[in-house]
Amino acid sequence: MSQRVQKIMENAKLIYSSTETAGNGPEDISRMLKVNLPITQDNYTHLLMKILDVEENQIKIDIRNYDMHAPMKLVPNAFKTGSHLYKLKVPELAEARPSLLPYDSVYVKISKNDKVKYQGVVHKVLETAVLLGFNYRFEEGFIAKKKYYIEFGFNRRPIRVEKQAVSLANKHNIIPYFYPTSEAMDSRIPETLNYFNESLNDEQKIAVKNIMNRDLNVPYLIFGPPGTGKTVTVVEAVLQLWKMRSTSRILVCAPSNAATNEIATRLIEVMPKSELFRFVGNIYGNDNKMVRLTKIMNVHPDGTFYMPSMEQLLEYRVLLTTLVTAARLVNGGAPKDHFTHVFIDEASYANESQTLIPIAGILSHDDRNGHIKGKIILAGDPRQLGALVHSQFARLCGYGKSMLERLLDTCELYARDEKCENCYDQRYVTKLLKNYRSHRTILTIPNRLFYHNELIPCDTELSEIFANWQQLKTPGFPMIFHHVEGVDLREETSPSFFNVQEIEQVMEYVTEIVNSRVSGMHITQGHVGIITPYRKQVEKLNKALDKKNMDKVLVGSVEQFQGKEKLVIIISTVRSKNFAEYEKIDQKCQLGFLRNPKRFNVALTRAKALLVVVGNGKVLQDDYNWRSFIRYCFDNKSVVGKLFLPPSDT
Ligand SMILES: Nc1ncnc2c1ncn2[C@@H]1O[C@H](COP(=O)(O)OP(=O)(O)OP(=O)(O)O)[C@@H](O)[C@H]1O
Ligand SMILES: [Mg+2]
Repeated sequence: MSQRVQKIMENAKLIYSSTETAGNGPEDISRMLKVNLPITQDNYTHLLMKILDVEENQIKIDIRNYDMHAPMKLVPNAFKTGSHLYKLKVPELAEARPSLLPYDSVYVKISKNDKVKYQGVVHKVLETAVLLGFNYRFEEGFIAKKKYYIEFGFNRRPIRVEKQAVSLANKHNIIPYFYPTSEAMDSRIPETLNYFNESLNDEQKIAVKNIMNRDLNVPYLIFGPPGTGKTVTVVEAVLQLWKMRSTSRILVCAPSNAATNEIATRLIEVMPKSELFRFVGNIYGNDNKMVRLTKIMNVHPDGTFYMPSMEQLLEYRVLLTTLVTAARLVNGGAPKDHFTHVFIDEASYANESQTLIPIAGILSHDDRNGHIKGKIILAGDPRQLGALVHSQFARLCGYGKSMLERLLDTCELYARDEKCENCYDQRYVTKLLKNYRSHRTILTIPNRLFYHNELIPCDTELSEIFANWQQLKTPGFPMIFHHVEGVDLREETSPSFFNVQEIEQVMEYVTEIVNSRVSGMHITQGHVGIITPYRKQVEKLNKALDKKNMDKVLVGSVEQFQGKEKLVIIISTVRSKNFAEYEKIDQKCQLGFLRNPKRFNVALTRAKALLVVVGNGKVLQDDYNWRSFIRYCFDNKSVVGKLFLPPSDT
């Protein structure tokens, strides 16, 4: 064992033994350390449970970074009952550090070593403050302007439901299903289909047919770079099952609300509203720029959220939820034989145990051999954003890898045929490589940096729309790097940055583009998306757009754009100082996409027809990926602003 590995193990041991979840103490821990890494079929439950313990404890430790010593301001008579609320300023909330939601707990002590803790409940989350409610004992002794010791709680639910899923998978003996062998299935010729989407290519059609194969008894995988139609294939397969298999009941999941809403938006184009439902776990699942979806969501017309009954949910042929919210189906007692198919899109954004949530306890299994009776389909791209991992120990155990990636890397069934460049056994897996989303120039850099130039650009009418836009520096090259030497600012001690000069520049582009006619097409607000890494920049851009009555332009982080696409994407990178200067804040808050290749890849691959990056080229050049991008724009005479580039190194 190398020294580094040993250190990480020791650290895990420490974290693990320091908590009440420590199980049987040192013996248990030493047993844990004897487990071979990474996660395998033999150590699956044991190791995943340990990892989740360590992860939970790591989060518990990390959240102590946000302990505060601060006063609270009384907000009197906030309720009809006369109860008060207390306003606490939390500057780092601007970047969701800590990430607080209504009903989360906050603990308050009079002095640091005081044994008495008053539990407060978050009533409202403001931009950089929260409104807390306490019981009368705290209210009686409250002293204005006094600094209290404040500790934040964290939402244990996601890890709790992951543990439940692992434990159910173990109990039902279904883990072998996730380590399929090659004797898994004999092939049956599927029926002829009339496709809803007539433009599907041959690979996509074959994938749909194989997913519909009644004999399919291993997870079906769809993978490939951005814009190659993974979600399109998932949507077609769901529609075919809905139409052709009248007894099918389909659960469609994705790790994030944004990605789940994206599939719902595509399905609602075709399916009647009475047949599908987007079940959200809380109000944050409602993306307020997707008005159409509220009609099929558990959200009242006034925007408030309600919890539907299990009977109501089970009436729909197609149900869409995030992975974590799918646990409510298990806990709400959905019958085991109800769902026949589970689709997980963006599956590489989820770790192993998250992937189990909509499966274990939901799909029925054969008690004798643990065989899963329903069908499972995983779609994703391991080169885009992956699951968030908190502890080094978990990373070492391979927990940063998704189930999709593990199956592709280690399972023979899904391996590439050695005799052929891109051949796979299509009965189980489909690799998609034809990109129909983006103009070929937009793909060049991600293709070179992340996909060994395997991606095949297939220009469409839409991707050509901006090819001759009058604002382009070079006709036929619909990409602009706009160099802006702005100032990145922070408010007080907030870790969130904004950059006024970039906002002005972005707004110039937006006003130029929205409501204009380009190649005969009327460009609407819905055609444009703005990606930026900081919440403050998102908020200020939203305000600027509101002022111009352009609130339908979607602004968000890379995470919010994963799985999405827009005709025009404008990226505002915000940072104008050396990376080193704020590295500590960025690291602590895990912010920014500037240094993260996966975020860079996702951000650059969302645009169909026009990509504009507004940022400080001098700063961005410190990073190899950004340097490659800027160099490519420079070589094609598409850099705006005075920027000196050193000789090429790519
Ligand atoms: N066979 C096809 N013919 C024409 N257009 C297609 C085809 N397949 C997909 N598209 C279009 O390509 C774009 C990208 O498709 P989709 O969003 O499904 O890709 P994806 O692989 O899921 O991307 P991501 O990795 O970003 O999630 C969409 O606009 C879709 O309509
Ligand atoms: Mg997709």
